[in-house]
Amino acid sequence: MRPLVQAGHSAGRAAGATALAHANIAFIKYWGNRDDDARLPANPSLSMALEALHTVTTVLFDDRLAQDEVTIDGRPASPAARARVSRQLDLVRRCAGWFAAARVVSRNNFPSGVGLASSASAFAALTLAACAAAGLQLDESQLSALARRASGSACRSVPGGFVEWEMGQDEASSFAHSLAPPDHWQLYDVIVLVSSSPKPVSSADGHRLAAGSPLQVARLSAVPGLLAACRQAVLNRDLAALGAIIEQDALLMHAVMLTSQPPLIYWSPATLEVLQAVREWRARGVPTYFTMDAGPNVHLICEAAGAAEVAALAARLPGVLSVLVSAPGGPAHLVEE
Ligand code: PMV
Repeated sequence: MRPLVQAGHSAGRAAGATALAHANIAFIKYWGNRDDDARLPANPSLSMALEALHTVTTVLFDDRLAQDEVTIDGRPASPAARARVSRQLDLVRRCAGWFAAARVVSRNNFPSGVGLASSASAFAALTLAACAAAGLQLDESQLSALARRASGSACRSVPGGFVEWEMGQDEASSFAHSLAPPDHWQLYDVIVLVSSSPKPVSSADGHRLAAGSPLQVARLSAVPGLLAACRQAVLNRDLAALGAIIEQDALLMHAVMLTSQPPLIYWSPATLEVLQAVREWRARGVPTYFTMDAGPNVHLICEAAGAAEVAALAARLPGVLSVLVSAPGGPAHLVEE
């Protein structure tokens, strides 16, 4: 991988690169780790990259910088966010054998911290940009495994289209790969925003609570069957089959969240309004199915032909702030800036 900028300075070296990665929506959720430090997941998962939601990140390693500087959406990152970025950069620095501090500038084209998986696109873009800037030659699997260290779902934002993350046995074998490219199926995600405030408990903290729910064991035993059926439904482009699976899987994850200690209640009254409406619309012949992540917003999955109607119906519901519509997206890639 070739850095986009490379310059020699009397005081040292500087090299930078810019990468773009899409957010993803999981159809089979990742919830809980069997190893928190290495972020080895408790179960495999399956997702779709979201064309309309992306993060663009520039990383410039510079020997003259005293410490990492991180800007997110035009503002200096909080100390916690900067520490998380620095931890990921440390992994890249160790692999590259170049220990320069970095200037990181990251921009999301969608609201972050509201359960729209901004950490997935952010850390996939950061990992790709940092590796390119440091001159590391990694293939897609290695990049995905490295992105996983910062945020599990980030490993699924490295490949494009419909993506499966196998659990793997260890650090190197736990990565995501593409099951089908974005043009395999014009499946849309109509994202219904009912809140724009940051979630009270981050998913990183939520994963640690999963094992404390007596329902996590039941969820984990259901995942292999749901995953196999989900993979088949995606390959067959079978929305009715996919819809039943994603709704059950999302509710299983929220059942675990609701029964953790302390309980994680991510839903708001508007979340339930949307879930109830989806059933009514389906009964009236509008084929759409819901899923949710660690937040109150709802993702409505439908085919391209129905997306405009689903978005219009959702926008009229009480408590809905806005609606975003996304087609399947491509893989993370370097961009010129
Ligand atoms: O990657 P994390 O730690 O932000 O976890 C993501 C968890 C969910 O979004 C709730 C589920 C998933 O598989 O994306």
